[in-house]
Amino acid sequence: MGFATTAIHAGNEPDSATGAVSVPIYQTSTYAQDGLGKNKGFEYARTANPTRLALERNIAALEGAQFGYAFASGMAAIDATLRLIKANEHVIVSDNTYGGTFRLFSKILSNYCIEFDFVDTSDVTNVEAAIKDNTRMVFIETPTNPVMMITDLQAVSDVAHAAGARVVCDNTFMSPYLQRPIEFGVDIVVHSTTKFLNGHSDGIGGAVVLNNEDDAAWIQFVQNSAGAILSPFDSWLVLRGTKTLALRMEQHDKSGRAVAAFLEDHPKVQKIYYPGSLSHKQHELAKRQQKGFGSMISFDVGSLEAARTVLESAKLCTLAESLGGVETLICHPATMTHASITAESRDRLGITDGLVRISVGIEDTDDIIADLDQALASV
Ligand SMILES: Cc1ncc(COP(=O)(O)O)c(C=O)c1O
Repeated sequence: MGFATTAIHAGNEPDSATGAVSVPIYQTSTYAQDGLGKNKGFEYARTANPTRLALERNIAALEGAQFGYAFASGMAAIDATLRLIKANEHVIVSDNTYGGTFRLFSKILSNYCIEFDFVDTSDVTNVEAAIKDNTRMVFIETPTNPVMMITDLQAVSDVAHAAGARVVCDNTFMSPYLQRPIEFGVDIVVHSTTKFLNGHSDGIGGAVVLNNEDDAAWIQFVQNSAGAILSPFDSWLVLRGTKTLALRMEQHDKSGRAVAAFLEDHPKVQKIYYPGSLSHKQHELAKRQQKGFGSMISFDVGSLEAARTVLESAKLCTLAESLGGVETLICHPATMTHASITAESRDRLGITDGLVRISVGIEDTDDIIADLDQALASV
């Protein structure tokens, strides 16, 4: 089946009790049992819930994986994934990862004798050089947020596997419509479903998908034991969101290309970060492992003042954190999404005070460009 068919049907079988074509929101904490040890496959809703299960099957199918688990947030999904790592083991991480991931790893999990090395994974030789005897995971994000560095999924998987380490890819920025990391050797894909998978900016959620049975059993055990599950209602919202993922991503991608072309030529824009741009040094790699370039674009207008002017002059583009919704969102990474990393790291990564990030929505493309045009004219 094609992607759009899978998105609409995987996990979405008509309800066995009523025939409802939309999976019902099973808003229950527990399930009546027929007798001691006799149940209909559900005992307690932290362990399993039919609405969540439908979503888990759906997301797993979209990523081409066997197993999927839905969590209360993207960070809860990432935290559960790191529970595959034990004390005295080592994890290599993309140095340009989402600020919340950096915070979880460096400020919390590092207190439990897990060793992290943050390296520029866009060059596979850095990954190779960072590998140690106790390396058990390479955690990558590609493209990275907000400066759009690309990591070669196949090359990093080969290097990590040769060392006996798993590869985890945060695929939030691309969604499985534009990038399917498992096809390039990645072992585990994590998502903030809050973004493109849900797509409507109305729920926080996360997911972990994978094929290895032992690791899947452990993730499920962690999900049930620690309990950071996605609620039935939020599961239903994401399930509704993925039904239109293919259509939405096509439009996000189309408008993303048009907005990037507009920004690239604009005299007030000093630099643009967009993998679809011919000037992006990893454009060819992006073309090879992505089906499109998505709608995340960052651009530098030179100073905090200029960035503030753009952000505060935009009318249609909403000033807000987050991304991947139907509406265009615009933000200032240095003071918003990446405030939790040091100023020195921000400098090194190119997250300057003049950097603006845009998540291009699916409004009419001309309206988005007209709004950016008038906002840039105020600089
Ligand atoms: C790439 C990426 N991964 C993970 C997360 C965390 O997801 P959540 O906010 O759903 O916990 C975010 C949030 O912005 C993100 O951008």
